[in-house]
Amino acid sequence: MSKKSFVFNDPIKGHYQTQWQAPSNIALVKYWGKHGQQLPQNPSISFTLSQCVTTTAVSFSPRQTGETAFDFLFEQKKQPAFHPKIQQFLERITPYFPALEGHRLSISSQNSFPHSSGIASSASAMAALALCIVDFEKQFHPLWTEEAALQKASFLARLGSGSAARSIAGPLMVWGQSKAFPQSNDHYAIAPAVEWHPIFHDYQDTVLIVDKGQKKVSSTLGHGLMQGHPFAAQRFEQAHSHLEEIKAALTTGDLERFIDLTEAEALTLHAMMMTSNPRFVLMQPNTLALLQKVWDFRAQTDLPLCFTLDAGANVHLLYPRQDRNPIMDFIQKELLVHCQQGQYIEDQVGNGAKKN
Ligand code: PMV
Repeated sequence: MSKKSFVFNDPIKGHYQTQWQAPSNIALVKYWGKHGQQLPQNPSISFTLSQCVTTTAVSFSPRQTGETAFDFLFEQKKQPAFHPKIQQFLERITPYFPALEGHRLSISSQNSFPHSSGIASSASAMAALALCIVDFEKQFHPLWTEEAALQKASFLARLGSGSAARSIAGPLMVWGQSKAFPQSNDHYAIAPAVEWHPIFHDYQDTVLIVDKGQKKVSSTLGHGLMQGHPFAAQRFEQAHSHLEEIKAALTTGDLERFIDLTEAEALTLHAMMMTSNPRFVLMQPNTLALLQKVWDFRAQTDLPLCFTLDAGANVHLLYPRQDRNPIMDFIQKELLVHCQQGQYIEDQVGNGAKKN
């Protein structure tokens, strides 16, 4: 698939209003390292979440001379701090939707999860905005299939934040070319036509908030650390084989293999940051305490509870819905003491974005 297939030069002009809700996602095999225009150095796979979502409404109108390209409200308030990111996103996507230049966008967004929870919202936010923009363009392409529109939304979302490419459909999304998934490619994410084992359809993700602060390492800086990283080549190769292996675990329901790969990926992501130049330790003492307690609990109970991590201190606990009661009990009694103000978010695997 070439990126040219996403450009249409039709003379589009008009008023339109739409609203989309896009979910957050949590990577199992991690994307870490990019090149070119937001292209991944290795393929990744993620669970689409269902409760952590961004809802964005956009109204499009023909832009008058002297008018700015957009205005933006976050949770009903002006938030100029977000403007540079939106501006950059619109500049990056305009070549793929030239008519955007002739329009002014009034954007209003809100998150279902607290902005200051340390949960990255860029994936759901960029995906929701991309879906609104594609929905507008779709009005002028009545022959576009739903699938083609979602592909373009993923393609555009990627230009805002790489992992946003995966916040479109569900329950699992693959982004980046991989031998394991025939349709996969670097330009947009796909929901593979694979029969996932039913245990994963409503897998739980309880996010333990260890640090509510802003990210210590921006994504752009973080991905840049993989350039010239002494272990980069091995890491990218490992991600390819982990993806093949996790596909097998996700289709057969082999939880032991799933846990082994998921935790290896989380710790490898952090190992990459700890061994880059400059180096970063993003885990905190409470993160380590939580990981150890998860391992001890698993050894004692044999319940399939495991963790994954983003590029930060918070811990995502993954487990089957059928084991929710004893695991929530353990979380409440043993783990919340390690969370900032005892804060956590309960989520589970979902099926993707919705127009509303
Ligand atoms: O989408 P970005 O550029 O914020 O990068 C996200 C990278 C990780 O969350 C650490 C891994 C991933 O695949 O989501």
